[in-house]
Amino acid sequence: MFLDRERTPISMPRIYLDNAATSWPKPESVYLAVDETLRSVGVSAARGGYSSSVEAGKIIKQTRQSVSRLIGVEDASRVAFTSGCTDSLSTAIFGFLKQGDHAITTTVDHNSVVRPLIELRDAGVIELTIVDCDEEGFVQSSAIADAITSKTTLVAVTHASNVLGTIQPAREIGEICSSREVAFLLDAAQTLGHLPVDVQSINCQFLACAGHKGLLGPLGTGILYCAPSVTDRLRPLRFGGTGSERVDQGQPTTMPAMLEAGSLNVPAIAGLGAGIGFLESAEGRAGVQRSKQLATDALCVISKIAGVGVFGPEPNVDRMPVIAFSVDGYDSATIAGIFDSSFQIQTRSGFHCSPLLHQSLGTDVDGLVRISIGHFNTAEQVEIAVAAIREIAAG
Ligand code: ALA
Repeated sequence: MFLDRERTPISMPRIYLDNAATSWPKPESVYLAVDETLRSVGVSAARGGYSSSVEAGKIIKQTRQSVSRLIGVEDASRVAFTSGCTDSLSTAIFGFLKQGDHAITTTVDHNSVVRPLIELRDAGVIELTIVDCDEEGFVQSSAIADAITSKTTLVAVTHASNVLGTIQPAREIGEICSSREVAFLLDAAQTLGHLPVDVQSINCQFLACAGHKGLLGPLGTGILYCAPSVTDRLRPLRFGGTGSERVDQGQPTTMPAMLEAGSLNVPAIAGLGAGIGFLESAEGRAGVQRSKQLATDALCVISKIAGVGVFGPEPNVDRMPVIAFSVDGYDSATIAGIFDSSFQIQTRSGFHCSPLLHQSLGTDVDGLVRISIGHFNTAEQVEIAVAAIREIAAG
């Protein structure tokens, strides 16, 4: 059934403040790239020698190069496209860890890191240490160092909390992992597109990220960077056609084909390329700065409203543009419901797929409301949200 724009919520005005889940709206160039690719190219890449398929291959190559440039990788073949950050993280975790390994993660990490590790631990494949954070969501790099044993092969840590916006000391962790010869998997789902992320200076061997959050691409896009040093040990999760011209029966063992079985989502990858192009423009850079400033300003005001509790680092500490808060007398789902029904403000409540962090914060009963500001939010929209919090808190 086709969407009826007169009758669906799509045509209703809304203030979208859930950009940490997925960014919306997208730059105009992203919509155009998806539409143009779907209409005018419309075929699989590397599945035929005809011109449209070659064109699809070029789109993939260009976007791969854009991603590589963004994360400081010279050899673009080290970057594989995935369906999202969860796909990237499962590919790295299940593909890299072996029987008898020890892995480390943190209570700040998202279920997309924690659940694959717990699955392997509960199946008796690995031992797992989960390092706790402090009350602002910071993980000490020394705590990671202390957790490393002779069996540790992987440290998997989020670059920034999706709940609190707390930015972790990725470089320090990378240095520790490098000196102890342990692979470092950085989950950059919340940071890429907002912060500079350079895999060489961070010294991570895996970098996982969604394409549809800070990179402003469509849902259904993600990337996984794998350094040469970890690729030999990596076994793909998916096997199948890669469009290779060879008649070998086995799955390719080189990047990126080894991780890209099946037909790639060419229109979405074209959109991702356009999203990165936008981020590199003056308008894109301004959007990043604006979202950060709006979050800092709002945080200063919200933290002074009576009956409201804000969580995470102090406003003067560098953080991602997210604000997690509670209002006395309400659970988070009720507040988000009032936001939506009375103010047309869209936020995420509950536990944000990060239950360990909520347990650590003591917010595992009522959850928190999370406002996450994106590249296109305006000061007026954020002011409306702050006024709504004030009104709800006043009762
Ligand atoms: N990880 C996404 C979020 O934080 C889905 O909402």
